[in-house]
Amino acid sequence: MDVAIDTEVDIHNADYRSTRLRAPKRPLIPLPDAFRDLAGPVFGEDALDQLDHDLTRRHEGEPLGERIVVTGRVLDEDGRAIRGALVEIWQANAAGRYRHDVDRHPAPLDPNFDGAGRCLTDDEGRYGFVTVKPGAYPWGNHHNAWRPAHIHFSLFGRSFAQRLVTQMYFPGDPLFEFDPIFQSVRDPKARELLVARFDLDVTEPEWALGYEWDIVLGPGSAATPLDPERR
Ligand SMILES: [Fe+2]
Repeated sequence: MDVAIDTEVDIHNADYRSTRLRAPKRPLIPLPDAFRDLAGPVFGEDALDQLDHDLTRRHEGEPLGERIVVTGRVLDEDGRAIRGALVEIWQANAAGRYRHDVDRHPAPLDPNFDGAGRCLTDDEGRYGFVTVKPGAYPWGNHHNAWRPAHIHFSLFGRSFAQRLVTQMYFPGDPLFEFDPIFQSVRDPKARELLVARFDLDVTEPEWALGYEWDIVLGPGSAATPLDPERR
């Protein structure tokens, strides 16, 4: 965990046009140390429905697309499991379309997929989702701008400082080098922390490909970088 990684993101990224308007214009204010110990909200099992973690079984039929399992552990900067963390995800469907009024991408909606899920981490800090692999989508930032396939993550850990909104990517995506959002995490090693690992042990025979992605809630040099879109 002692690897020195610059997890800072470039908040005024010339290539990522909307940061010019919505990123802070004044210097960021570091959280006072006391905030690190301030307890965050605690979510009980009864706050969730049994199928909240399975985005493929919440509608009448099954969604189209490549079924996947996404799992991993939520850890603090010392590598200790964070149990009871609320992990929420949202994503485009397999065609690259969000179920959202503002999404005008001319790709089909899927009546059997809403793209949202949530779960709590277990005693080992493990979370897990069943979903379909999201498609890439165009986003109008510049000519021929396409987002690499990604899943948005929001985490509430055990303390105020263990709050993270970020994005998980899939290994080997040819769009990485063209995506100003991915590239706004400046350190290549920190960008790697945003990419899940394909895992044959997580993969379920005759059922779903498996991806493993651990999340480290900061502060700290090994912390998973935040999503510059949400800054
Ligand atoms: Fe997105």
